[in-house]
Amino acid sequence: MSGLTTTKAPFIESAQQNGERFIHQPYELYSEENHKAWSSLYARIQDRWQRYANPKFLDGVAKLNLDPKRVPRIEELNTFLSPLTGFKAKPVSGYIPAFIFFDCLRNRDFPTTITVRDLTTLDYLPEPDMFHDVAGHVPMHTDKAFADTLVRFGECAVSAAMVIQQLKDKEVQRERARSIIKALARFFWFTVEFGLIRDGKKGLKVYGSGLLSSYGEIAHCIESPEVQRYPVQLEWIVNQYFEINHYQPLLFIIDSFDHLFSLVDELEKWVKDGRLNNVSPGEPNVGDVDIDSFLSAKL
Ligand SMILES: [Fe+2]
Repeated sequence: MSGLTTTKAPFIESAQQNGERFIHQPYELYSEENHKAWSSLYARIQDRWQRYANPKFLDGVAKLNLDPKRVPRIEELNTFLSPLTGFKAKPVSGYIPAFIFFDCLRNRDFPTTITVRDLTTLDYLPEPDMFHDVAGHVPMHTDKAFADTLVRFGECAVSAAMVIQQLKDKEVQRERARSIIKALARFFWFTVEFGLIRDGKKGLKVYGSGLLSSYGEIAHCIESPEVQRYPVQLEWIVNQYFEINHYQPLLFIIDSFDHLFSLVDELEKWVKDGRLNNVSPGEPNVGDVDIDSFLSAKL
């Protein structure tokens, strides 16, 4: 009985085959293994959250009233979340093309996976799962400054789509889209997914969801001498490639969530001024589906 286990859930496969991107959470399908995986992941990371997570995240966890023993019900979660910032977790069947993903953020919807990783692969899986999306991302969405930053990021994507759609030459359009989407994805990666935030004079805390949802990396990113940590610089992060299949060797630090908001403001200026038109090549790979999502966006 595979329940709603990541990469092994018939319910998800059939939704994908039917082209259903946004779905509901069929709560009755979760198996006992799914609940066990959730509770193991949740229990073992508690001490590390206390030690390494930024205070807004810890506040968020408390405000969401997550059940430590059972997979969360998205609807219930939203009753705590949406009065705070207007954000809602929105169940999806899998990958969401870039523009649609960013546009969801603009509308204060957060595309959320509903599957849970296999009990035997608690440490690492390449696909996002519910522990990453719900325990890693959603608590941050209870904070107003952070939530507003995500919305601003979504607006940035709209500006990008406008810039791209105004171009006449189809070939140029695609190349421009590839570069700008790469830059936006890198920004998102080095902030929302893997960002560090200054805590007092010397300390650092974690706010990136990829770190907050990883039992190993949340400690490694702060403690390891192998990790390079630098104050965030826009010109650097939009040109910096990254790889997803190992601990991150290079991380960037923001001063505050207001600082992050101002960076997104600047990012939008860069979109409009053409400063993202030719960013350095390399990861992430921007696929045709992502490019098409910007070209066909209704603005
Ligand atoms: Fe994520």
